Amino acid sequence: MSFESLWADESAIGRNPDTGGYTRGGWSPTEREATHWFLDQCAARGLTVESDGIGNLIAWWGASDGPGVVTGSHLDSVIDGGAFDGPLGVVSALAAVDQLRAEGFEPGVPIGIGAFVEEEGSRFGMPCLGSRVAAGVLSAEKALQLKDRAGVGLGEALEDAGLDPARVGPSPLLRRMGTFVELHVEQGRGLTAPVGVASSIWPHGRFRFTFGGEANHAGTTLMEDRHDPMLTYAMTALAANKQARLAGARATFGRLSVEPNGTNAVPSQVTAWLDARAADTATLESLLAAIIKQATERAERDGTTLEVTPESVSPVVDFPAGLRDRLVNVLDGAPVLPTGAGHDAGVFSDAGIPTAMLFVRNPTGISHSPAEYAELDDCLAGVDALAAVLKDLAK
Ligand code: GLV
Ligand code: MN
Ligand code: MN
Repeated sequence: MSFESLWADESAIGRNPDTGGYTRGGWSPTEREATHWFLDQCAARGLTVESDGIGNLIAWWGASDGPGVVTGSHLDSVIDGGAFDGPLGVVSALAAVDQLRAEGFEPGVPIGIGAFVEEEGSRFGMPCLGSRVAAGVLSAEKALQLKDRAGVGLGEALEDAGLDPARVGPSPLLRRMGTFVELHVEQGRGLTAPVGVASSIWPHGRFRFTFGGEANHAGTTLMEDRHDPMLTYAMTALAANKQARLAGARATFGRLSVEPNGTNAVPSQVTAWLDARAADTATLESLLAAIIKQATERAERDGTTLEVTPESVSPVVDFPAGLRDRLVNVLDGAPVLPTGAGHDAGVFSDAGIPTAMLFVRNPTGISHSPAEYAELDDCLAGVDALAAVLKDLAK
């Protein structure tokens, strides 16, 4: 099947007609619909699908059941995300396999197409949840304690999706992942050629800031009598922005929860999630320390409290240079670039699987938004590049 028709089918699944975006949290109805579409595509191609307890999938082309070359990405999205982040890697993998088959290529080792669950962590808060559990970086016990915003536990979500929570744990799928190559839309404006190769992933983390204060009447409480956690939060958000600029890093408060969330009451508590990223670990650590210092000083002045809880921390990932250079060579000197975005490829690389990434140009650099976009010609160049890389690695 052509990339165009696969893309048209996949990107119709769960598109919000009002925003044009996608909300495919892990194991949600729209994510399951996309997963079932993927399984149908695999069945139509006679691929053998293997799965693990949390729902990661690899569909294999090739007779042997030994290790092979795995490509693919994820089908879940952030809240109201774009069409490309994740699905482009899965759809391009299907199209690349179709292209190789049409050419009569016979892989020397199996080629697998992976779809890894809850990469964004948009439902359970933990980025790369499926790959972290698969790689044993996050224990089944800790994973099963996670709850979504509606209070649904991971175990219940898995059961609703027909999966058995007792099977959650390090994944047998990794045994066959001899090499992993994830194709992904580039998420900034750093790539000016149609296709590039990743050098590294910035270290990053998600930190929950809980600001405690005193609920009180919005009309009768004198301004100087207040202990308002919203003020402490507001100053912290400004401090985070300033510190990130100073450090050449990134800091974002994109999620907020206010108690009791009433218009006419000083809040009792504000919970805000900081996403912080930097090119190296030392910069990330000093950025976080500077933000916490300013937040703590402000809390003292406001008479509020502050608790900071790391929810996830992802170390820097330097993809293996040998594999990276091999891809660059196959792609006639494609540009090499780092990324500030997280990926399952980083988790698998850390787990010792030789891993590389291909990026497809993003002309606006917008991502995690319905406006995320890549030109069709660049997507087709991505499929060609992926096919060439698979041909080289699986010969
Ligand atoms: C995922 O794309 C992330 O970087 O958060
Ligand atoms: Mn993403
Ligand atoms: Mn992604």
